[in-house]
Amino acid sequence: MIKVWTDGDEAGLLDKKGVRGSTFVYPSETSKQRAVSLTMPVRTSSYNMDYGLVPIFDMNLPEGALRERLRLAFAKAIGKFDDFDLLTIVGRSQVGRIRYTGEKEKLNEDVPFQSVDEILASRRGGELYAYLIEKFAQYSGISGIQPKVLVRDEKSSAGLSRERISPSYRGATHIVKFWEPNEFPQLAANEYFCLSVAKRCGLDIPPFKLALDGTALVVDRFDLRPDGSYRGFEDFCVLNAKGTAEKYSGTYETSVIRRFQEFARSPEAPSDVENLFTLITLNCVLRNGDAHLKNFGVLYDEVLGEPRLAPVYDLVTTSIYLPKDTMALTLNGTTNWPDAKALRRVGQTRVGTPAKIREIFERISEGLSQTVPDVRSYIQEHPDFKEVGESMLREWEKGRSLSLGGRQ
Ligand SMILES: Nc1ncnc2c1ncn2[C@@H]1O[C@H](COP(=O)(O)OP(=O)(O)OP(=O)(O)O)[C@@H](O)[C@H]1O
Ligand SMILES: [Mg+2]
Repeated sequence: MIKVWTDGDEAGLLDKKGVRGSTFVYPSETSKQRAVSLTMPVRTSSYNMDYGLVPIFDMNLPEGALRERLRLAFAKAIGKFDDFDLLTIVGRSQVGRIRYTGEKEKLNEDVPFQSVDEILASRRGGELYAYLIEKFAQYSGISGIQPKVLVRDEKSSAGLSRERISPSYRGATHIVKFWEPNEFPQLAANEYFCLSVAKRCGLDIPPFKLALDGTALVVDRFDLRPDGSYRGFEDFCVLNAKGTAEKYSGTYETSVIRRFQEFARSPEAPSDVENLFTLITLNCVLRNGDAHLKNFGVLYDEVLGEPRLAPVYDLVTTSIYLPKDTMALTLNGTTNWPDAKALRRVGQTRVGTPAKIREIFERISEGLSQTVPDVRSYIQEHPDFKEVGESMLREWEKGRSLSLGGRQ
């Protein structure tokens, strides 16, 4: 049995059901604010799954390299390894406001300290990844295929005034993302420049920095409040009642834009929808074929409050690694990269006036143009990046030409 916590308080109990399923129940008199998800209001009857976990509990389970690392480390000790075991191992340090412990345990989020400056200065050279994964894998309740860990350095941030964080605060503050040289060379620099374009388009991006030698990208957690507590975060798999395995199934029109409109209750919803459309269009221009349901999310202070579009994360020009790459979800019934006309149609139907859509296209084109010189100078300073960097610039021009209809 696993105890589930929200905002530092007990919310309910999660148990196995049959061989493969799970069941979650809120004890009687649980207050409405303790709900574990926007999609799971407090009620007396249990939430049951015949197979796997309900999407909100599945959301942060490590995937890819991190999951494999944890399996290798723990399977022998516990004799087996399933999603429940994984949740117990990484449950006390998670993205968002939910935590998991044993039934009788107290909450204890005690992540070891790791200087972010040390990571950025690449002081451990090629040993850094091995060192961090060894030390932080068990504190990394975070999804995604790329190798990554959550670390704690409450003093380092370009964004938050960290002085206000309480001295007893011990939770993770940053995400450190690495890459596999044989599969995705220079992925951190790739993401760094894609995020730079997004920032210049006026989208909300958490502070992010590239390590000196390009081996790691360090991103501030956007769900961390200055007082050390965490906001609620839910990705679009959860909002669509899907598990992680279904992250590539859906459409940008319904599973992303319309779904967001259904959940958005804040007065800022129209501008959030514009930003969401800007992000979808930007993904096409950057040729990011991995903009699946887990790469969009909502953020909220209270589960009964007003969810906002989460800041932008995980933007990569994937077509340089997979030249035939297409979109992760469909737009207009296809995963082929859309032309400007198709995007304009979606924008004008669901988002704003022709003038507004034109302004969004212009902003993206401008953001791209302003970032190209940065990529060029990084290529000059880092010959290792030349091939990837030049290939990115070619993909961006292709993306701009098709999806924005050329230079604005
Ligand atoms: N700055 C952030 N603050 C809090 N949570 C974040 C942040 N960035 C990402 N996340 C969460 O971590 C998850 C994994 O991050 P990310 O998408 O960058 O990893 P990835 O391995 O590149 O993913 P993918 O499998 O899509 O390639 C996201 O789906 C999101 O839930
Ligand atoms: Mg991702």
